[in-house]
Amino acid sequence: MSLEAAIAASAAHVKERLGERAPDVALLLGSGWAGLADALQDPVEMAYREMPAFPTLGIGGHAGVLRAGRLGGREVFMLGGRKHAYENGDADAMKGAVRTLAAVGCKVLVQTNAAGSLDPGMPPGSLMLVSDHLNLVQRSPLFGESGDDRFVGMTDAYDPALRAAAHAAARRLGTPLHEGVYAWMMGPQFETPAEIRMLRMLGAQAVGMSTVPETILARHAGLRVLALSMITNLAAGLSDEALSHAHTLQTAKAAATGAARLVDTLIETLET
Ligand code: HPA
Repeated sequence: MSLEAAIAASAAHVKERLGERAPDVALLLGSGWAGLADALQDPVEMAYREMPAFPTLGIGGHAGVLRAGRLGGREVFMLGGRKHAYENGDADAMKGAVRTLAAVGCKVLVQTNAAGSLDPGMPPGSLMLVSDHLNLVQRSPLFGESGDDRFVGMTDAYDPALRAAAHAAARRLGTPLHEGVYAWMMGPQFETPAEIRMLRMLGAQAVGMSTVPETILARHAGLRVLALSMITNLAAGLSDEALSHAHTLQTAKAAATGAARLVDTLIETLET
């Protein structure tokens, strides 16, 4: 099946399952953010494997689930599970999923992730709004595309109006919200201290292994993007703590309640 046919079939399936419901915001739940799905009211659940444009998620039994339901008083999609470029080196694993969302009328993609901090003043447990990114690995999910629209502009890729709404929501709640540049590193290994020193010199505040490919895909598909990083650790060399995925998930869990409140308020006030 061609990608176009897979997207058409996936979009038809989603529309059939949704009936009259028409979410125009999608939240992509990253590491540590899965609990947000519990806040969804009246959810419809669609396994990724029901939709041919969606990725098959790797080992470990974490089947991906696309949900639609109500959050913050509006209909939203939630994507539980993203396929990372570090799994096989391809940055385009979420291409079909993002394009299916666009095909069913989605206008905004809110991404969430876990990230390491390059700034000791932004410790584990902090939330950071992504203002811009560094694609140092220089991979694109648009390799192999044709058409002039592949030359997609990346200025204001993280929508200024959506960022203003996120800051307003944080102020309303009294939740501290940092903002900074997210450096995408391929992983799956964590960075070396030397790499972290390089990223700091290049002006990054956070580092992670996701988000950038989906931002490029979403901008190419005409969606506006917002991204929120949950800081789970100080990056390599900035603390004595050993980095591990288990540690990432544990810290994310501890910070999840505040993060969930922020997302809820943000979704309520978002203009699409
Ligand atoms: N580096 C890369 N990805 C991450 C980190 C990190 O320190 N923490 C959570 N995700």
